[in-house]
Formats: sequence, structure tokens, C-alpha cells
Amino acid sequence: MTELKAYTALIETELAKIEFPESPSQLYDPLRYFLGIGGKRIRPILTLLSAELFGSTANKALSQALCIEVFHNFTLIHDDIMDAAPMRRNMKTVHEKWNQDVAILSGDVLMIKAYQLLGKIEPKLLPPAFELFNKTAIEVCEGQQIDMDFEERSDVSIDEYIEMIRLKTSVLLGCALEIGAIVAEASSENRSHIYNFGQHIGIAFQIQDDLLDLYANPEKFGKQVGGDVIANKKTILHLTALKHASLEQREVIKQLQNENNVELKVDRTRRLFDQLDVRSFCEARMQEHYAIALKSLEMIDVDASKKEALVGLAVFLMNREV
Ligand code: IPE
Ligand code: IPE
Ligand code: MG
Ligand code: MG
Ligand code: MG
Repeated sequence: MTELKAYTALIETELAKIEFPESPSQLYDPLRYFLGIGGKRIRPILTLLSAELFGSTANKALSQALCIEVFHNFTLIHDDIMDAAPMRRNMKTVHEKWNQDVAILSGDVLMIKAYQLLGKIEPKLLPPAFELFNKTAIEVCEGQQIDMDFEERSDVSIDEYIEMIRLKTSVLLGCALEIGAIVAEASSENRSHIYNFGQHIGIAFQIQDDLLDLYANPEKFGKQVGGDVIANKKTILHLTALKHASLEQREVIKQLQNENNVELKVDRTRRLFDQLDVRSFCEARMQEHYAIALKSLEMIDVDASKKEALVGLAVFLMNREV
């Protein structure tokens, strides 16, 4: 944990060095604001830890780590528009504090900034890094579109859900790790194992995110609790509830989707999910992916002692409250 804090501090310091012009302020103020309000910074830490795992140094992977975090922040600014989210990291979202147009355009700048940072990689490593990053960025958009499409659907399967979260969330964790491996010039086998570790940690991470969305302590969470229920997201909680519900309960779940009183909608949905023990089923599914992730990490032919930091980060992620 103390080790993680040092990495987080390093990322914060380096992010703070990214300079944006003063004008036009409506374009750049939101970026200073959004990058300044924190976040767990887990993706760039994954990049640094992966570079170190394969014998390079955190310093050598710093620009690529920042690239991943900056890209992630771009996706969050746009995600908050799409999800109509009022709050993130305990602060107003960009579209809420400014407006939607500002959030679109400042988000775009952040995406381009990510590419600038990626371009700082050693020239011979740019082609593989570029290929991986481009593939990942497109997949994240695919996942986000599927997530939005699911809001209108009532026949989503759990397998479809897993594929959707693999795209919107996991591929970026995999990419964060693999970019670190590229910087360290790891073998293609090791690159693939570390990517798979990221994929399954990512799936577990998004399941945890869905659980927190309904069950987090609102004082700590920093996002609107119940946002997924309000938006009729087809989360694993919702899909598990439908799977275990009686005919009548299924009818109630469907009716609640059309409820306009959001407080009532969230409370009743939570109560029904509790009756169906949805939480423990989702936690079991999360643990399954966590276990597969650790198996992928074990397959990397590097001394086990060098993997401890990544295991520590995985444990931290599974137990987080934010
Ligand atoms: C939020 O990611 C988006 C998801 C993929 C669930 P994080 O939970 O890593 O958000 P920050 O960066 O720490 O705020
Ligand atoms: C977002 O998933 C994944 C992204 C690619 C941004 P969510 O919509 O669940 O993330 P949060 O809960 O808003 O952070
Ligand atoms: Mg979303
Ligand atoms: Mg969201
Ligand atoms: Mg969420």
C-alpha cells in the first residue's frame, strides 16, 4: 500500500506538469479542473509496474503511463455526458459545471494529448505501441456504444454483458499493462500474458464498479449512487436479478424501469436485488475473473517476487470503496 502511494504521487506530480494554454479558457479550464480533481490513477500505475516487472524502469514508461491516464480521463468526460452523470470524484462533472459542448471539445483535446504523450516513446517502439493503442481506443468506443444500446434492450445476456465490459473497460487495463511491457521490450508471450491479466482484472474491476454504483457509501463514493439504475443500465446486477426473479418479480423490475421518481426507483430496485441475493452472485463472478487474472500473471516467466506489486494492486482494486 505505501508503495502504491508513492506511484500515485509520482503520477500526480507528472500530470500536474502537463500545461494547457490560458486561452480559450472554456477549452482548457475544464482540463485543468478535471485532471486536478484526482482519481485512483490505477491505469498509469499498471503501466509503470509492468515496465518494472519486465526489467525496465518506471521513469522510462512515464510518458506512456500518462498517455493512458489522459486517455482514460477523456473517456470519462464523454462517458459522463452519455450517462447524464452529475458527479465524479466528488466534484461536478465537466458537462454539469460548464456545458455539453465544452465537455465534448475539451474531451477531444485530451484524446489528442494522449497521442502526443504516446509519441514520446522510443521511435523503434512506436509502431507496436501505436497499433495496440489504436486498437484499444476503438474497442473502448465500441464498448461504450454497446453499453448505450443495452439501455434500450431487455434481452441482454450475461455473456453479452461480459463482452461489453471487456470492450469498454478491460481492454484499457490490458493496454496499460502491455504498453509497459512494450517499453521493457518483453517477449510476445509475456506481452500476451500481461494483457490477459489486465483483461480479467478489468472485468472484475467493472463488476465491482457496477456493485459500487448501487451499494457504495455515498459519503465516500464520489459518484451518484444508483446512477446505473436511474439510466436503466444493463449491469450484471440487473441481469442477475432478472435471471433469479419469479415472473412477478420480473414484472416489478420492468415496471421500475419506467419509474420517474428516481429515489423510489433506486430504493425499490435495491430492495428487490437484496431479496434475490444479487450481490453475492456478482461477487462470485468477480472473484472468478480475479482468479483467472492471477493465473495469467503466474504464467509470466519472471521471478514471483517481482510480481508482488501487481498482486498488491489487484488486491487493492478488489477491496476498494471508490
Ligand atoms: C471509472 O474508472 C470508469 C470505469 C471503467 C469503471 P476508475 O474507477 O478508475 O476512475 P478514477 O480514474 O479512479 O476516477
Ligand atoms: C465507463 O463505465 C467505462 C468507460 C469507458 C468510461 P461506467 O459508465 O460504469 O463508469 P463510471 O461508473 O461512470 O465511472
Ligand atoms: Mg458509462
Ligand atoms: Mg458512467
Ligand atoms: Mg459505473
